[in-house]
Amino acid sequence: MQNFTFYNPTKLIFGKDQLSQLQTEIPQYGKKVLVVYGGGSIKQNGLYDKVMAQLNEIGAEVFELAGVEPNPRISTVRKGVEICKNEGVDFLLAVGGGSVIDCTKAIAAGAKYDGDAWDLVIKKAFAEKALPFGTVLTLAATGSEMNAGSVITNWETNEKYGWGSPVTFPKFSILDPVNTFTVPRNQTVYGIVDMMSHVLEHYFHLEENTDFQDRMCESLLITIMEAAPKLLEDLESYEHRAAILYSGTMALNGILNMGYRGDWATHNIEHAVSAVYDIPHGGGLAILFPNWMKHNLNVKPERFKQLAIRVFNVDPAGKTDEETALEGIEKLREFWSSIGAPSRLADYDIDDSKIELMADKATVNGEFGNFAKLNHDDVVSIYRASL
Ligand code: NZQ
Ligand code: ZN
Repeated sequence: MQNFTFYNPTKLIFGKDQLSQLQTEIPQYGKKVLVVYGGGSIKQNGLYDKVMAQLNEIGAEVFELAGVEPNPRISTVRKGVEICKNEGVDFLLAVGGGSVIDCTKAIAAGAKYDGDAWDLVIKKAFAEKALPFGTVLTLAATGSEMNAGSVITNWETNEKYGWGSPVTFPKFSILDPVNTFTVPRNQTVYGIVDMMSHVLEHYFHLEENTDFQDRMCESLLITIMEAAPKLLEDLESYEHRAAILYSGTMALNGILNMGYRGDWATHNIEHAVSAVYDIPHGGGLAILFPNWMKHNLNVKPERFKQLAIRVFNVDPAGKTDEETALEGIEKLREFWSSIGAPSRLADYDIDDSKIELMADKATVNGEFGNFAKLNHDDVVSIYRASL
């Protein structure tokens, strides 16, 4: 295990009927509130009205930024920054999924930065300060509600990058499973794939002596895989929505990965695909992750074998480590297919015409990946295997 410092200041407020906590949380930061939301789901399911009623109770002066895109764009961030700067906004409230929260993080930091917010995303500048913000989460997937990361797309240049800073943790996040009841089936599936991929990104590391961390990762994967099919049978089950919601947060809030660094190459490879084709993040991961695994099996076969045995119940008797590992990877693919996730780039009508371009984007900063270093050829080969 490596030395580590764990820091996570986000107050997590979980459960039914917790929205009224906005009345105690927001006044600690100010009265001028910018509410950030997406393309309209919160208006359709009534959450918008409930949030506005809470803000009304505390006499907040409310500004709105609607229309944050899935795969949020820097153009929308810039609109939000302008509102904050022009109106002297004190606090931001993200009401939505990972895209809305990520956009809010960029607005919060952009509002306290003199240049263009894109500088923060491409790491030309570091976010030293940010406006305080909170979240009301509506979709279980990214973990953005309890981490400092944000992923922003520049649609003019087809670039999509993750960035973050200690100042971009939400002050609080309200997680009511009921607010996720209306998430459509396909988005529910993408979210499940995304959170499982976060655990898998952690799991593939080269550190030794991480038994407890390994077992936490394995137990989270098993928990998600047990809850997912039941939830997909009944999208309004409080019990299963709650299990998945809590799992998504735990998968990427820093608790699983103390003392080691996970791989994270597959996320980079996927971001390059969504930067060019604007596909859902979880859909891209379902296609790419098993192929990343096969490509890197020989780096440390025992890690793949451990996953296969402990999570996918593969019987290793009479098999080589590689055979056991491959069976585990197949079982992961089968599980994702069984819940309706895509398995080939062709499922999104993506052919080989832009593979070089996507590989250029993925390797713009050179080789990457902490478990296995990938170069341009490796990335091309993973894309080809995914066609
Ligand atoms: O825009 P609205 O109308 O709200 O609809 C959204 C959107 O169309 C809809 N939705 C959300 N909650 C709903 C709902 N529909 C009905 N009922 C509800 N309760 O779902 C669609 C997808 O929403 P989005 O926020 O895009 O999904 P997700 O949470 O999966 O976020 C994806 C983004 O997060 C980034 C991804 O790259 C992608 O840009 N990521 C962020 C991370 C982070 N900050 O830590 C880590 C992740 O690995 C990921 O890269
Ligand atoms: Zn992800």
